[in-house]
Amino acid sequence: VIARSFSSSAVNSAIKNVTVIGGGLMGSGIAQVSAQAGQNVTLVDVSSDVLAKAQKSIGTNLGRVAKKVYKDNPAQGEKFVSESMSRIKTSTDPAEASKTADLVVEAIVENMSVKHKLFKQLDEAAPSHTILASNTSSLSINEIASVVKRKDKFGGLHFFNPVPVMRLLEVVKGAETSEATYKSMMEWGKAVGKTCITCKDTPGFVVNRLLVPYICEAIRLYERGDASARDIDIAMKLGAGYPMGPLELADYVGLDTNKFILDGWHKKYPNQPLFKPIPLLDKLVSEGKLGVKSGEGFYKYDKK
Ligand code: NAI
Repeated sequence: VIARSFSSSAVNSAIKNVTVIGGGLMGSGIAQVSAQAGQNVTLVDVSSDVLAKAQKSIGTNLGRVAKKVYKDNPAQGEKFVSESMSRIKTSTDPAEASKTADLVVEAIVENMSVKHKLFKQLDEAAPSHTILASNTSSLSINEIASVVKRKDKFGGLHFFNPVPVMRLLEVVKGAETSEATYKSMMEWGKAVGKTCITCKDTPGFVVNRLLVPYICEAIRLYERGDASARDIDIAMKLGAGYPMGPLELADYVGLDTNKFILDGWHKKYPNQPLFKPIPLLDKLVSEGKLGVKSGEGFYKYDKK
């Protein structure tokens, strides 16, 4: 998968300089795929510790890519890693870092007021041609864009975890995203090796709008005692051909993340039965059972 997404990165994009804000799980992945596709990257975070950690993990991941792609030519592999790494600068100043950007991709905490504060700053600091995009999973692109003047140059670029492995990119058109901005985002997505799909600004876009209610229905099925967790997962793997069962997937994504998305949608659409709160999910989260990352969710895990 890595080799395939890497080889498709020869596509041209007018965007050459990308600033990624947020050096966590998603931001570091977005920085990696951009740098390995030849983009000049500035990775920004409020914490320089996070930036150091991100650089280290990007280096390790690139090493893995090199081993696969250049398995017969280790010298070429080393060159690929060092050249990709040399394209990544880091900064703790979003405004300064956006001054040289053709595209800014935001991947900070999933909180509307924090995102608003950042985008106001970016809108003032970035050159007029710069496209601003959010990697939000559950917030409205139009609502995030409400604080910027350049609404025509704003959109959603929704990646999937882990970014270097997952091949999909959802390109989200806001109500005022221009055709030119949309085209540039699609081209850039292809250039960084992703298969792009287009979606309007609706809750969860395509993947999460289908996946979150599916996971929630599986939790409700289990909560009613209709089947065991293991049997629900076996059923969907062997009967529907899914690589993971819904409860395994819930544990992998994090039960707190599932609850956060569900609660946000329920607040906005209180009459949608698929978005109704689930007492069992609330209970597990309140007990700190968050899935793989906490050592227990629907299943038990060795703590990492
Ligand atoms: P994370 O918690 O791993 O990383 C967020 C980073 O942003 C942290 O390092 C934090 O220090 C930094 N940050 C917070 N406020 C900041 C600010 N004002 N300026 C600069 N940096 C700031 O979070 P993660 O999982 O990477 O998520 C980031 C975004 O990506 C969220 O909007 C989330 O909804 C979205 N997303 C997450 C996915 C996932 O599977 N985790 C999948 C797709 C999208």
